[in-house]
Amino acid sequence: MKIGVIMGGISSEREVSLRTGQEMIRHLDPNRYEAVPIVIDQRADLIEQVQEAEIDLALLALHGQYGEDGTVQGALETLGVPYTGSGILASSLCMNKRLSKMLLTAAGVNTPTGLCWQGMEDYNPRAVERMGYPVIVKPNTGGSSIGIQLVHHETELLKAVQESCALDQTILIESYIQGMEITCSIIDGEMLPIIGIRSAHSEWFDYTAKYEAGGAEEKVIELPPATHQRVREAALASYQLLQCNVYARVDMILCQDIPYVLEVNTLPGMTAGSLLPKSAAAAGLTFTQLLDRIISCSLR
Ligand code: DAL
Ligand code: MG
Repeated sequence: MKIGVIMGGISSEREVSLRTGQEMIRHLDPNRYEAVPIVIDQRADLIEQVQEAEIDLALLALHGQYGEDGTVQGALETLGVPYTGSGILASSLCMNKRLSKMLLTAAGVNTPTGLCWQGMEDYNPRAVERMGYPVIVKPNTGGSSIGIQLVHHETELLKAVQESCALDQTILIESYIQGMEITCSIIDGEMLPIIGIRSAHSEWFDYTAKYEAGGAEEKVIELPPATHQRVREAALASYQLLQCNVYARVDMILCQDIPYVLEVNTLPGMTAGSLLPKSAAAAGLTFTQLLDRIISCSLR
């Protein structure tokens, strides 16, 4: 079977995507698949390259906008090329943190409370003061923590909001929940072992903590049964409610045994140090077997 590994793209997560793609190619079983790297440098590349490659399946290694947000999924559906992971609706919903949080909240899943501003004209430090510091300022459609800032005091707010607004016209200002960041990988509707994250040098799981060696301690954690059950319910409810398919990773903060869902990633990182392969390994699945599962579930 000819598998096109689609990577790169034009989002702020391009470098992460290239690392995901290279890792996927390294681990695809050569006895079963012929891997064809497809590197996207601009949006117009996709259709031509996919058609030329004559692939049986697109293995999506893209992250962020124009890749994880439903656009590429829509193009592939139009071309009639099967692809891995969630469909158009789940992809675009999960990329939009504001809308996914609204749906999760309506369904009774905890998420950090916050404000949504449409650009600098909504800038209102009094509203943030009423919420109370610290707050997290984030672009609505970002990924890999790019553009996210922890703001302790009003003096830091303006700069943080300007930087976030430069990446996305819509930004979120959320209460900073003190607790442990945890992540729940789901494959084919089953939750893999939970990973707890402790950033080594920063107060939260920022880009450096995510991608630099030694940036964070990430290990499988055992939670008390009642807490584990709450986390599992929140993870699976988020996955199902947002219509995810095949696989996803639900990121949360666990605060006093209550999970708060931060976001759902429909194309989670699969770099050498990423969380989903780590969680799969803890469940006894090698990277190669994980890719086999993703491919076979996506073709079902
Ligand atoms: N957005 C990055 C790739 C992740 O969620 O792993
Ligand atoms: Mg993300």
